Amino acid sequence: MKALILSGGRGTRLRPLTHTIAKQLVPVANQPILGYVMDHVQAAGMGDVGVVVAPETQGEVRGYLGDGGKWGVNLTYILQEQPLGLAHAVKTAKDFLGDAPFVMYLGDNLLGKGIAGAIERFASSSMDALVFLKQVDDPRAFGVAELDGSGSIVRLVEKPKDPPSDLALVGVYLFSPKIHRAIDSIEPSWRGELEITDAIQWLIDHGGRVSGEVLDCWWLDTGKKDDFLQANLTVLDDYLKRDIRGELVDSQVHGRVRLEDGARIVNSVVRGPVAIGRDAEIRDSFIGPYTSIGHGSRIVGSSVEHSVILDRCEVIGISRLEDSLIGRDSRVVMGGARNTALRLMIGDHCQIEV
Ligand code: DAU
Repeated sequence: MKALILSGGRGTRLRPLTHTIAKQLVPVANQPILGYVMDHVQAAGMGDVGVVVAPETQGEVRGYLGDGGKWGVNLTYILQEQPLGLAHAVKTAKDFLGDAPFVMYLGDNLLGKGIAGAIERFASSSMDALVFLKQVDDPRAFGVAELDGSGSIVRLVEKPKDPPSDLALVGVYLFSPKIHRAIDSIEPSWRGELEITDAIQWLIDHGGRVSGEVLDCWWLDTGKKDDFLQANLTVLDDYLKRDIRGELVDSQVHGRVRLEDGARIVNSVVRGPVAIGRDAEIRDSFIGPYTSIGHGSRIVGSSVEHSVILDRCEVIGISRLEDSLIGRDSRVVMGGARNTALRLMIGDHCQIEV
């Protein structure tokens, strides 16, 4: 069994962050989403892992994953010149996959538990595809499955206007090598992509055995700001343990707080769950629950809660910052006392609530 991680594509929904960072590398609780995917692939015992990358973002993805040694796997990078669909990504990876069964894991998906159990069930069955499903409030943003009375999948539709059920396709799929014939038999969809849902539908229509497994844990799509903050909250809630490696000076740190090496908290109060990255500095501030402060960021004379501040930011003199997502190398600074004007320098696709 091999693993194929999709880390190409475009990150349009998380703009402006994804103007300068691959969406799979946006950190949740200070670890890139792709890191959680790799953790699951490693825990499932996968030794051969292919990573599909795009020309624009392959440098930083390679920079983060390296040769896979950190996870004890052999990594093969597969360049997909254009984001022509999930099935197109599989086609591009054909040489790597050969005739092996494989798990395909979308590199921007976060799952509350690993994939080892599903892989075992798939390996000991004669299934051609096993897809993960999850009930969602608005299925129109996803691939959607229609099941028959016995729980078998009879139909899959991509981003339907009129969804046949509330079961969305989660970004983890297990395939037998029959999927390659299916992919060779389908045409691009109306949006010009070779859809994996169409390939799976082809399997169903040609007598393949396709099953769905409804997830009993959380699954997070990190698409937009609020989804992203929710993902950060859930991961902090579920995974974070108290781990103080940095320095505390005249400060109170309550509950589950991870303070990485080189970070300092001076004359401040931090109430977990909170993750504070390497070499960050918190001074004369309050950091409230469900907050991540990135590596090398400085929070001075401010109060920050339920927010994600990425690396190397400065937040200075801000009395209440909440529900916010701040990209790398940004500064949020209170102007002088007599200065009531807003002075902004904002990149493309930003959103400011004043
Ligand atoms: O997140 C689950 C959803 O993922 C499923 O419900 C849908 O059925 C499935 O089509 C997919 O929908 P998205 O519109 O969210 O897919 P997106 O374009 O965001 O791509 C998912 C991942 O695959 C992302 O990490 C980028 C990567 N990718 C995408 C395309 C289109 C590639 O590596 N190559 C590609 O050509």
